[in-house]
Amino acid sequence: MSQFPIAVIVGSLRKESFNRKLADAIVKLAPPEFSFKQVNIGDLPLYNQDDDSTPADTVKRMKAEIGAARALLIFTAEYHRSIPGVLKNAIDHGSRPYGHSVWAGKPAGVIGVSTGPIGTATAQQHLRNVLAYLDVPTMGQPEGFIQAKEGLFDAAGEIGPDRRKFLQGWMDKYVAWVKRHEPVATPA
Ligand SMILES: Cc1cc2nc3c(=O)[nH]c(=O)nc-3n(C[C@H](O)[C@H](O)[C@H](O)COP(=O)(O)O)c2cc1C
Repeated sequence: MSQFPIAVIVGSLRKESFNRKLADAIVKLAPPEFSFKQVNIGDLPLYNQDDDSTPADTVKRMKAEIGAARALLIFTAEYHRSIPGVLKNAIDHGSRPYGHSVWAGKPAGVIGVSTGPIGTATAQQHLRNVLAYLDVPTMGQPEGFIQAKEGLFDAAGEIGPDRRKFLQGWMDKYVAWVKRHEPVATPA
């Protein structure tokens, strides 16, 4: 296992999701001691507190994958100036049963891409609010408000030249910031 296994969560289920494309491309800018695993959140049931003592297998799987990670890297789409329901659903699942949250203490990078000019800024602000309550420290700077436009990706799906310098700088800061945090034990 790598020294820094990172759980990647993409807050969009769309096949051609810009956020997933960004997730696929940006992880290639990280050093070799970091490994990244995208955690599937599309197969989770709608959160229902009645099921806390009998979680679905997909919920158990997601919680185990988060628990095994040293840190989080969360990409959010922006739906009506907030986070998509699928992302909030996954966050709620991971937080329960009470006292068994997989989130607490895991450092997170938050970034997102949207077709709008503010590049998920409002969704990210809402996400930071939720994560703060769950005791997830989030990297404050640089903020990653990315607009999906021509040149963001090249023909091979890698980060295009227009945003490469910025996103390499973002990843460098994220790597340094994760390294500053001690690993946290996740409750069973
Ligand atoms: C229900 C819905 C609401 C949206 N609301 C916003 C919004 O508030 N701000 C914005 O910039 N884009 C908004 N969009 C456009 C998204 O940025 C765009 O669909 C983007 O491609 C979503 O990310 P994805 O490509 O990763 O799926 C919305 C899209 C949908 C489907």
